[in-house]
Amino acid sequence: MTYRDLMRLANGYADSKVLLVANQLGVFTAIGAGGRRSDSLAIACGATPTGMRLLLQALTGLGLVRVKADRYWNTRLGATFLDARSPSAVTNLLWLLNHHWSDWTGLARAIRRGRPGWASVTKTAGFRRRFALAMHERSHVLAPLTLDKIRLPRGAKRVLDLGGGSGAYSIALAQRHPDLHVVLVDQAITVARRHVTDARLANRVAVRRGNVLTKPLGSGFDLALVSNLVHDFSAAENQRLLRRVHEALRPGGKIVIVEYFLNAAGTVPAEAAVFSLLMYAFTATGRSYAWEEVEAWLKSAGFGRFHRRAVTDSIGTLEAVTR
Ligand SMILES: C[S@@+](CC[C@H](N)C(=O)[O-])C[C@H]1O[C@@H](n2cnc3c(N)ncnc32)[C@H](O)[C@@H]1O
Repeated sequence: MTYRDLMRLANGYADSKVLLVANQLGVFTAIGAGGRRSDSLAIACGATPTGMRLLLQALTGLGLVRVKADRYWNTRLGATFLDARSPSAVTNLLWLLNHHWSDWTGLARAIRRGRPGWASVTKTAGFRRRFALAMHERSHVLAPLTLDKIRLPRGAKRVLDLGGGSGAYSIALAQRHPDLHVVLVDQAITVARRHVTDARLANRVAVRRGNVLTKPLGSGFDLALVSNLVHDFSAAENQRLLRRVHEALRPGGKIVIVEYFLNAAGTVPAEAAVFSLLMYAFTATGRSYAWEEVEAWLKSAGFGRFHRRAVTDSIGTLEAVTR
């Protein structure tokens, strides 16, 4: 790393905050398809004229909007991802990243004194709904790439999607495999219910509210999907979860864990190590785990025949079969 890289890294939050605040104020959505003047955007976004002008100048400098004849326009990227009306918008995901600002702010204290646990706002219905919308904007893109890596057990008919969130994976699975019936279990299900209904899959995707660590999960499933859930829990909670999954699967049934997996030293991929710190500050007991740690839990829960697969540079799937 050069000195220049070091400084860019140290100040990276400044550029990030320009984008996240513009999203928070709804600037890209207010610009929409037509060009708008700074003063008109200030009124639309409830901002001061000077504050909005400086924000738009910074956004222009960063290449996030364009200016022509005193009017500000969305770039093609902005129109696709930053205008809340676009079907590919990531405005809820950016809302979540902006929420995490407070977790990062408390990090020094958390490292010195211990983790603060879930903030009370994260337990509200409003937060959980928006969190699910944020996850959906990420997972509906990643789900098809992830499913490309998953081999269903032969003749698979019944799938359990634990901590299924927005329903992105359940829906993608049901759309890809017309014979599958999926049961999604999550502590927050409003968004999943709506997505499943909109996808006209209510006859094949059942959405159930409950705690995956305590709710009876049923039995005889061919496949259990545990996507982005392990990082919410401690090692002991995960061992309990995996034993419960083992009980819910038929003999020869398969578990697929989708996660940010770390190397044995816990250092790479860096994105997973950094995410682990965020989970330390954001959740009560979670963090990222190494492939080897998760395999050891699976083994003691009665699973074997492990397969690790990369989905992106930092996300992977770990498959195992009941012994
Ligand atoms: C990071 S999201 C992942 C959602 C989805 N699997 C995906 O990959 O898009 C984690 C999900 O687990 C759910 N969750 C966390 N702890 C839970 C628990 N103890 N019981 C049920 N759901 C839980 C959350 O509500 C959230 O929807």
